[in-house]
Amino acid sequence: MERIQKIIAASGAASRRTAEEWILQGRVKVNGETISRPSHPVEPSDRIEIDGRPLPAPEEKVYFLLNKPAGVVTTTADDKNRKTVVDLIDTDKRIFPVGRLDYDTTGALILTNDGDFMNALIHPRHHVEKEYSVKVEGLLRKEESARIGRGLDVEDFHTLPCRILSVRYDQAKTSTSLKIIIEEGKYHQIKRMFEIVGHPVIKLSRIRFGTLTCEGLSPGEYRRLKPHEIKQLWNLSRFGNPER
Ligand code: URA
Repeated sequence: MERIQKIIAASGAASRRTAEEWILQGRVKVNGETISRPSHPVEPSDRIEIDGRPLPAPEEKVYFLLNKPAGVVTTTADDKNRKTVVDLIDTDKRIFPVGRLDYDTTGALILTNDGDFMNALIHPRHHVEKEYSVKVEGLLRKEESARIGRGLDVEDFHTLPCRILSVRYDQAKTSTSLKIIIEEGKYHQIKRMFEIVGHPVIKLSRIRFGTLTCEGLSPGEYRRLKPHEIKQLWNLSRFGNPER
């Protein structure tokens, strides 16, 4: 048995919220009877109708990994008519990005039409690792990187502890390149963390999302996830990083 609201959303006919509205408006029938609760249980054999029309069969779930190029917005539709990450993927499914990368940030981005999968991966309690390659202005000192590593106040929130590795200074000693592994994904998080310690970000790329890297994908290219990769990501979201 599943909740009617979930079944309607899984069919691709509407989001969960819209499905709830339809139910409360009395537009949904199960086996000919109007139902009124979004939690109404249904079985696979039940006949579901919306406004008198049968509910379409569940939409096939699709999962893509995109190597996001710079100059593309991470959204499904942009009010300024800029190119979006969804425009780069050839599919007739209603996909959406899992989390977001800034306009100028490149790298690993998952897109899917599976809302449960997306919610599991972006839930802050689930600690899915995201690894970024970062170039910042100036020479990042040990104390500064330790401060970021311990977690610091970034305006409205305190960041979780994270790891900084592979720190290198460029030849002219005007910038620092490094890798950072974080387990959350607040708005402009990396840029704000480095800004606070006085080293604005020059370049940012996500080189790993959980178990996935963009190996073999040039910027703008994408591929479908393999079934074992989808399973690994589900496991990561359930059990977190086994090394923690
Ligand atoms: N942190 C940022 O500041 N920007 C991104 O795009 C991703 C993480």
